[in-house]
Amino acid sequence: MGWKSEWERARSDPEGFWMEQATAIDWVRMPTKALHDLGGPVPEWFADGAVNTCWNAVDRHVAAGHGDRLALIHDSPATESVARITYAELQDRVARLAGALRARGVTTGDRVIIYMPMVPEAVEGMLACARIGAIHSVVFGGFAASELAVRIDDAKPVAVLAGSCGIEPTRVVAYKPLLDDALAKAAHKPDFCLILQRDELRSETGPRDFDWHEAIAQAEPADCVPVAGNHPAYILYTSGTTGAPKGVVRPTGGHLVALEWSMTNVYDVAPGEVFWAASDVGWVVGHSYICYAPLIHGCTSVVFEGKPVGMPDAGTFWRVIADHGVAAFFTAPTAFRAIRREDPEAGMLEGHDLSALRTIFLAGERADPDTIEWLARVTGKPVIDHWWQTETGWTIAGNPVGLEALPVKIGSPSVPMPGYDIRILDEGGHEVAPGTLGAIAIRLPLPPGCLPGLWNAEARFVKSYLATFPGFYETGDAGMIDADGYVWIMARTDDVINVAGHRLSTGAIEEALAAHPDVAECAVVGMADAVKGQVPLGLLCLTRGVDRPQEEIAAECVALVRERIGPVASFRHVCVVERLPKTRSGKTLRATMARVAEGAEVRVPATIDDPAILDEIRQALARIGLPRS
Ligand code: COA
Ligand code: AMP
Repeated sequence: MGWKSEWERARSDPEGFWMEQATAIDWVRMPTKALHDLGGPVPEWFADGAVNTCWNAVDRHVAAGHGDRLALIHDSPATESVARITYAELQDRVARLAGALRARGVTTGDRVIIYMPMVPEAVEGMLACARIGAIHSVVFGGFAASELAVRIDDAKPVAVLAGSCGIEPTRVVAYKPLLDDALAKAAHKPDFCLILQRDELRSETGPRDFDWHEAIAQAEPADCVPVAGNHPAYILYTSGTTGAPKGVVRPTGGHLVALEWSMTNVYDVAPGEVFWAASDVGWVVGHSYICYAPLIHGCTSVVFEGKPVGMPDAGTFWRVIADHGVAAFFTAPTAFRAIRREDPEAGMLEGHDLSALRTIFLAGERADPDTIEWLARVTGKPVIDHWWQTETGWTIAGNPVGLEALPVKIGSPSVPMPGYDIRILDEGGHEVAPGTLGAIAIRLPLPPGCLPGLWNAEARFVKSYLATFPGFYETGDAGMIDADGYVWIMARTDDVINVAGHRLSTGAIEEALAAHPDVAECAVVGMADAVKGQVPLGLLCLTRGVDRPQEEIAAECVALVRERIGPVASFRHVCVVERLPKTRSGKTLRATMARVAEGAEVRVPATIDDPAILDEIRQALARIGLPRS
């Protein structure tokens, strides 16, 4: 069975193909069929089945006699500690945590926000929600209180699970005050918060707060609660064009089936092997490949609390891979760019035995050929790029090494996975010839696991993804398919930028900047960065009559974005300009400005009234000494 025949089978007989894959999951009630038209904008997978995610990720492995197998390894250079948790221990910890939630009134369908650092308890929190059918929404720790507040108001959680602090290379981040600030800002108030006190920084607690360990110690373990196949497993907020994040909904049954399929076919790992995704549980990679997929498949998952460099050094990744016998490793290219900058010849690799490692996987942003070639050379391992999104939850295009290792074309994440019928469309929605650039769209239905909608926002779901090309899902990426069927991802078609593998909305940053009293108008564009791929650049037009020093205003704007969006935005560059380029309709020409920011040759579109503005921006960039690639 090769890739092509499996892809064809999934296309010609989606019912047969996905019902067959569904047999790898333990169902309380097997679905009678795969696709269900429930009258919503898209059909839903396995809707009449009954299933529990936590059972599949934890209990079934214990029941099968693998209770002594390691489920999680918490390797934390941040706290200089390593902890190991078996499946039997995980079952006990998760069942108790689920019991603690249930005892405080959390029930099926309730939302629970998780705002935690990279500790096993974050994964346990996710699994405990799944156990009782509660819908979790994990918020990345690098977001500011106001971003957390927006998510609280949208998800309306009954509970929040939080750590007292996170540990970054230069500082301990007090999470609890951020949570308190968010709760003060939010209109919705959860019933209670469960706080995991960490020794590095314990936090004050209030009347709404319970201590995590005490709550678990007193709790009766809770059993797994079966939910419908299309029950929302979780909500994960992601950046879109506007400042309001989109709550991507993950359906339970499709999620289980797709992730289980991916472990064998995309990642080529067997139950019992060690899988490591160096990401964060706050991102989709962390959801799918730190928490769910490795556990559903019965692997050992490494929960890493650290950084690729500076904790303690650029040899950390090699050390972790060697120490735990990692068989498949997954991270974003930016991590290896950071390592390479510190250790160009990978001298730190010496002494670390990588013999268990079969494949390195990259995703989250464009994998630049330079990084792939360097990584393949220094490790001697296959480096596999794959392309996916928060919305899909698993690979759209990849090189399915477990199914069939296809020839690698550096710069392309390879070919569509079964269930994804990728088409390149022009502005009119017509398919273009191979090798021609266009919008990347996926013919509906999307495969199992992909979003059936946005949380409480059906109209936005339709507008964002389904309206532009009727019958297709619009990915928001532009690119092409070559004559061999390989997909090439070139750019976003919307206002999303990718900073160190993190997806950010330029619109959200603009909204923050616009709140500064001296800013009359602003635009944010992505600027090339050697390590992070892109970083945001703020272009500001000041209010008439403002004559304060520009550096002062710039510093305030940097602080403002950090306060409103969070450190994750990596917002450091501000540049004051006289005017911003506009189309005649008044829309800011973002793509043009981005090209200026990257120092590329700028072809002035006929729609710009005054090309002198571009020169002005160029000079302003030179004045603040921004790097131009
Ligand atoms: N809690 C609080 N703050 C956080 C945080 C968290 N969980 N994660 C990041 N931050 C902060 C950082 O401390 C940094 O703050 P600073 O401005 O005070 O330095 C800021 O947010 C930006 O973080 P980041 O973009 O991660 O930059 P970095 O310089 O700390 O590290 C990399 C850069 C490339 C090493 C890092 O982003 C990385 O390892 N990325 C690859 C893995 C990954 O996360 N992939 C995601 C998708 S697969
Ligand atoms: P996120 O939803 O945060 O995972 O971000 C998804 C976006 O990241 C995609 O729409 C792409 O723009 C980009 N992306 C992810 N993986 C790749 C890849 N392998 N190659 C190019 N871009 C990628």
